[in-house]
Amino acid sequence: MDSHLDWHAARAALEWQVDLGVTEAISEAPVNRFEQVAPPPKAGVASTAQAPVSPVQPVAAPDPVADAETAARGAGDLASLKAAMQAYTHCDLRKGARNLVFSDGIAGARVMIVGESPGREEDRVGKPFVGRAGQLLDKMLAAIDLGRDREDGRGVYITNVLPWRPPQNRDPKPDEMAMMLPFLKRHIELANPEFLVVMGNSSCQALLGKRGITRLRGEWAEALGRPALPMLHPAYLLRNPAAKRETWADLLDLQARLAQSKA
Ligand code: URA
Repeated sequence: MDSHLDWHAARAALEWQVDLGVTEAISEAPVNRFEQVAPPPKAGVASTAQAPVSPVQPVAAPDPVADAETAARGAGDLASLKAAMQAYTHCDLRKGARNLVFSDGIAGARVMIVGESPGREEDRVGKPFVGRAGQLLDKMLAAIDLGRDREDGRGVYITNVLPWRPPQNRDPKPDEMAMMLPFLKRHIELANPEFLVVMGNSSCQALLGKRGITRLRGEWAEALGRPALPMLHPAYLLRNPAAKRETWADLLDLQARLAQSKA
């Protein structure tokens, strides 16, 4: 405050400020109140009489798997499941992806194929298995008279363990698979296939709890109470054409199971 003000002028200035609504008197030098020591309790006042300190409420850490379970359970049909996945924000892969890759083919088909994760083409188009591996998959299916667009009872339904493309097509990480697994399980429940085809290591890991596809392939297992056939991934077949022989045997096995259970 200007030290040249006389008492009356200073009072008038103060009253003017009060009229304007000023409620705090601020001194010229700042006061660090964190450094101020609390005054000692007054004599004769028991320390228990001091104002209670309110406890700090711990903030619950988010649980991505529990949140995914709740969201997946709440989806009553495939469209709501897709919407629930679109609204799920815990998986960082979504940030680098162009599209959520949900499914392709005939929902409710007898066969549901579970691949690993979208690649570049799938990410661009928003559908699973549309790149080179997908073209090979279509040929494999056609060889046993199945197809993703067949509406005559010979259709298949296709999805992946992860709906978003991992950067540089790297393998899915365990925490990414764990948080997306509740959605995959609900996806399978809602699509309700008779048979599952589990393509590749990550899919075996997610649905069968095992890795080692070259050992597991061709041996029927069970996933979510359904017969599940592990198969070599078409991308592996592109790199190792000699393994097509084993896949042909697996495809014939699938064809036989379809024919048997229909009879
Ligand atoms: N590989 C997969 O596992 N899924 C796709 O959708 C594409 C390639």
